Amino acid sequence: MTETKRWKLEKNGKLNEAMLLEAAEILKAGGTVAFPTETVYGLGADATNKNAVAEIFHAKGRPQDNPLIAHVATKEQLLDLVEDVPDYVYKLIDTFSPGPITYVLTSNGSCAENVTAGLSTVGVRIPSHPVAIALLKTCNIPVAAPSANLSGKPSPTTANHVWEDLKGRIAGLVDGGPTGVGVESTVIDCTQAIPVILRPGGISREELEEVVGKVIVDPALASTDSTDKPKAPGMKYTHYAPEVPMWLLEGGSEKVQQVVEQLATKGERVGVLASRDTIEKIEGAEKISLGESLEDIAANLYEGLRRFKQGEVDIILCETYPEIGIGQAIMNRLQKAATKYIKE
Ligand code: TXA
Ligand code: MG
Repeated sequence: MTETKRWKLEKNGKLNEAMLLEAAEILKAGGTVAFPTETVYGLGADATNKNAVAEIFHAKGRPQDNPLIAHVATKEQLLDLVEDVPDYVYKLIDTFSPGPITYVLTSNGSCAENVTAGLSTVGVRIPSHPVAIALLKTCNIPVAAPSANLSGKPSPTTANHVWEDLKGRIAGLVDGGPTGVGVESTVIDCTQAIPVILRPGGISREELEEVVGKVIVDPALASTDSTDKPKAPGMKYTHYAPEVPMWLLEGGSEKVQQVVEQLATKGERVGVLASRDTIEKIEGAEKISLGESLEDIAANLYEGLRRFKQGEVDIILCETYPEIGIGQAIMNRLQKAATKYIKE
């Protein structure tokens, strides 16, 4: 067990100078610090220090073959980690970074080999959260950071989620309140002439296409055939799993109500996770509203998945959402979290 330090922001939303320096010193000395980004909390360590990076894998229980994203504060620092950068990447960076997007590019070997899990490419990203930027600027090193959850659990969107999972396993946690976007960054392979989305996220396919024209979605993302290997190694693992089984249902509130009733007659305690409109129509279940817009639903999704506890409900029912804009990321995460997908 490690004593985990927890720092809170001042009333002005900033981390005071002394705390910022303390957190940065821990990172520079090879320790692990969790911090907020605009997507989810990340668990950071010096990306150039193999032992420090090994601490991340250890704390999360993360499979060794799943590479990490290197976080930096500026475009110059990002370009310092990579080589053979296609022209369209500069356009993407100028439009979307800092922001919820990760570029997979050819590594120039600056990051420790366990960051890239032995691949020749590295994922690089400039987060836009002011606390993340302040911390990255203060420590002035690239920081490897996966989501700060135990491997397999839903990603953390509040400091309490991180505390629940990693207290006693990491050196520090910067509590910056709830994150904004709520789903992780879009991971985009930029090693080919046409960019490929490896993981849908905070920046949608439509937004990317407006800037660079054609964008491909990794076909393995949509496939249910387990021999199709996703190009982002992380996408093949069980992910985002709530404590109890979850069914994903097509057919809107009527279908959800019908299944609630079928399960209730078998004595099952049912939890429903859905948009406010649907929640208002459902009877005979525990209910959590994810809000109205797709943006609200993304922001509240992981909190919702974590809130239904074993012993309180036996099964969670969740509705589907249109795969437009951030809806693509929402549906990707729900399909991975679900134990069963009932289509119309
Ligand atoms: O929003 C985010 O991206 C958050 C915050 C903390 O920045 N981070 C995050 O990291 O979600 P993680 O480790 O949970 O997910 C990283 C994903 C994994 O699916 C991983 O396999 C993929 O990115 N990835 C990383 N490096 C890669 C590479 N070189 N080639 C292909 N996929 C890569
Ligand atoms: Mg993750």
